[in-house]
Amino acid sequence: MKIFLETFGCQMNEYDSELIRSILRSHEHTFVEQLEQAEVALLNTCAIRENAHERIYHRLDDLKGRKRRQKNLVVGVLGCMAQNLRQELAEHAPIVDIVAGPDSYKRLPLLIDAASGKGEKGFDFSLSEYETYSDIAPQRQPGVNAWIAIMRGCDNFCTFCVVPYTRGRERSREPQNIVAEVHRITAEGFKQVTLLGQNVNSYRHEQSDFADLMESVAAVPGIRRVRFTSPHPKDFPRKLLRAMAANPKLCKHIHLPLQSGSDSVLDRMNRTYTKQEFLDLVDEIRAIMPEVSLTTDIICGFCGETDADFADTLEVVRRVEFDSAFMFKYSQRQQTIAERKFADDVPEAIKTQRLMQLIDVQREISRQRNVNEVGKVYEVLVEEPSKKNSREWLGRTDHYKGVVFFDEAAQPGDFVSVRINAAGTNTLRGTVERQSRRRLPVMASPVNCCGP
Ligand code: SAH
Ligand code: SF4
Ligand code: F3S
Repeated sequence: MKIFLETFGCQMNEYDSELIRSILRSHEHTFVEQLEQAEVALLNTCAIRENAHERIYHRLDDLKGRKRRQKNLVVGVLGCMAQNLRQELAEHAPIVDIVAGPDSYKRLPLLIDAASGKGEKGFDFSLSEYETYSDIAPQRQPGVNAWIAIMRGCDNFCTFCVVPYTRGRERSREPQNIVAEVHRITAEGFKQVTLLGQNVNSYRHEQSDFADLMESVAAVPGIRRVRFTSPHPKDFPRKLLRAMAANPKLCKHIHLPLQSGSDSVLDRMNRTYTKQEFLDLVDEIRAIMPEVSLTTDIICGFCGETDADFADTLEVVRRVEFDSAFMFKYSQRQQTIAERKFADDVPEAIKTQRLMQLIDVQREISRQRNVNEVGKVYEVLVEEPSKKNSREWLGRTDHYKGVVFFDEAAQPGDFVSVRINAAGTNTLRGTVERQSRRRLPVMASPVNCCGP
């Protein structure tokens, strides 16, 4: 059948969509770019905040109209929202034929056959303690970076977060199996790998911890850069920081979610660290890797957050000077501990006001940190044409700064030496250093622009 697959949410969902493509192609299904050409429409969904749900309900409204014109269109809702709202979707969205959670993708061929052949509705939301899809080779989209999920699920139960309920218990893949996948992606021409997990640095398989795994992945010939996301601040032993500092392939960028700078809010969030412990960790990271860039996630207006709590968050943000941040208003989620235990009592207007203030403070810090880069020369991995001007390239430094530059000879996947000469809040601009460009090693891979 012809399948249209649309992905919402985080990189883990992008990766899962690559798994879904692989599973369905091996059952003779094909994929189409336009919904109009599809016999099956699958939405791989996110549940992290209310606006994620709204986007998907909106999409389902579109599909309702389409199904009126195309009666045999099969509609499937997959992923985190499917897991989280299974009852509601099954009962209230009559146009939905298939609902499947993140551990049920191997059953999709059966569910699609039943829905298209016999018109049977199919729901599968069993969460597994073992499923890691390590036997499936994902069908990646062409690009420079390949994602690899090294673990799935989350056992942290931050009180605001729905992920432990949508993705189940933490489980890690065998290191040998991950390294074999890294060999495969280098053969396909990818230069960079990003190791993925909801709580990536709590990876453990028998005697191997996350630092061991990073070293094994970096040792694969052809891999030039290794990144990871998202870690939790509680799992940064010195061994991991030393390994990152010592190995030039392990990128000097850490996404370190703060969530809040107030001890009482952190405690209610069950983040398991205090403001001081977070600041100490930042100091330790910077002492071991002075060139590191730090990015973060912050929530404004969590249950019971006072002006003084929010002032603590601003203080940490000013002290740490993150390179950039994702900032959100708290959005109460069904099933979470916060929903059961605390009142969502910060008025919407205050949440918005705090978010705006935080964004203003962080924007100025991001701009200033970028201004500090002017005059420096970085090795930039070329990713894609710049969105604003397709004659220019967008690439990234080792420490994850986006750089826009012009170079007629460059191709995605090349490493180019760029001198930074201007800085905005989100990106840097630079010019290619011709001299150092020639000295860069020639890539081992015969493919320049990656991917199958
Ligand atoms: N595993 C990752 C988080 C994934 S969700 C980690 O621990 O860092 C990405 C971000 O969404 C979180 O870091 C948090 O800042 C935000 N988030 C999660 N649940 C939220 C909620 N209920 N309301 C608002 N933001 C939320
Ligand atoms: Fe959610 Fe916390 Fe797990 Fe991240 S660590 S996925 S925020 S429960
Ligand atoms: Fe969303 Fe699920 Fe990712 S809730 S952020 S798609 S883990």
